[in-house]
Amino acid sequence: MKRNILITGGAGFIGSHVVRLFVNKYPDYHIVNLDKLTYAGNLENLKDIETAPNYTFVRADIADLDEMRRIISEHKIDGIIHLAAESHVDRSIKDPFTFARTNVMGTLALLQAAKEYWDTLPEGYEGKLFYHISTDEVYGALELTHPEGIPAPFTTRASAGEHEAYGEKFFTETTKYNPHSPYSASKASSDHFVRAYHDTYGLPTLVTNCSNNYGPYQFPEKLIPLFINNIRHGKPLPVYGKGENVRDWLFVEDHARAIDLIFHKGKVADTYNIGGFNEWKNIDLIRVIIRTVDRLLGNPEGHSDGLITYVTDRLGHDMRYAIDSRKLQAELGWEPSLQFEEGIEKTVRWYLDHQEWMDRITSGDYERYYDEMYKGR
Ligand code: NAD
Ligand code: DAU
Repeated sequence: MKRNILITGGAGFIGSHVVRLFVNKYPDYHIVNLDKLTYAGNLENLKDIETAPNYTFVRADIADLDEMRRIISEHKIDGIIHLAAESHVDRSIKDPFTFARTNVMGTLALLQAAKEYWDTLPEGYEGKLFYHISTDEVYGALELTHPEGIPAPFTTRASAGEHEAYGEKFFTETTKYNPHSPYSASKASSDHFVRAYHDTYGLPTLVTNCSNNYGPYQFPEKLIPLFINNIRHGKPLPVYGKGENVRDWLFVEDHARAIDLIFHKGKVADTYNIGGFNEWKNIDLIRVIIRTVDRLLGNPEGHSDGLITYVTDRLGHDMRYAIDSRKLQAELGWEPSLQFEEGIEKTVRWYLDHQEWMDRITSGDYERYYDEMYKGR
């Protein structure tokens, strides 16, 4: 079946994996990648598919309603996978307004433009979908209920039952929203707008909330790529607080596979949580990264341990995120394909093998290049 799919934020980390998957897997679909190319957007992430006949890139700001109207009608868009966002918690603490503008007003502009265009079609909302990609951070923070804290690794692929027997709690699709950071507050607000467009106008929408992603092409402000790069250069590893916060890590290609499955088979107006049942205390994860980088660089064990530097904690630092993704597993049969040990090895190798990609990002060269290339547009 021919379809015209708009993917927003496709030049970013997760978006680039989703664009690549859709362009390669669905030659009959026309994939339009819409991205503002902020500091986090990098078209180099998509070099391998940029000349594909079913792929178009458009540089635009999702908060520009007229532009969203024009692009959606010009490309006769019938499905939207919305990933464009400001995504880094630390930046949201310094500059909350940019997060409200992009994540809230941008999502609203996209919803409105989709509604207006689909309202003009004879078939109306039949066969249309607005799929919004959100985060587990909207649910707030969980406590560490195990008295000694979570052993390392707590859970590579343990079952939900085993977790519960351990006394730990999880975010489910019905957990009440309780965001703490400006980033998660802006994402929660955008989720509410998406659901409001369904409940008020009947727009076919869907929301998924995913845990921390890791893998190739992640911007090196986030923990894993930042630390891999710092270890390589012998630079300090800034561990916030005591390093005891816990995150649930999922390999980015498994998230992209889930998005593909949910886009095609998910129930309209529904919500699905996506996570790996793979919780790590930050400091334990950091030790795994150090060991892996040192081994792959041929350094003796323990070589980079001294780089660990405890620094002032992130303001309002959420203690623990943990997703219960059993609904997605039971209803649509999705499960993570990679064990964490394989995923982290693959990831560290990728960053070590793509030092030029990292150097261009850390020098800011790619941003200057896009500003020149898209001057006046
Ligand atoms: P990212 O920061 O790597 O990429 C975001 C992309 O959005 C960039 O290409 C950027 O240029 C683009 N963008 C930003 N503002 C824009 C605007 N105003 N108009 C158009 N494009 C704009 O983010 P990511 O980590 O790939 O996250 C993608 C989505 O997934 C986000 O919505 C995020 O909230 C969500 N999410 C991320 C994670 C994670 O662990 N990274 C987990 C769960 C959910
Ligand atoms: O849970 C999903 C979320 O995961 C996404 O919605 C966000 O877009 C994504 O950025 C991520 O948020 P986190 O804040 O969890 O990711 P980050 O990589 O920034 O930090 C991971 C943990 O590591 C967190 O507890 C803070 C800590 N940290 C982070 C950095 C950058 C450090 O200790 N030192 C650091 O330098």
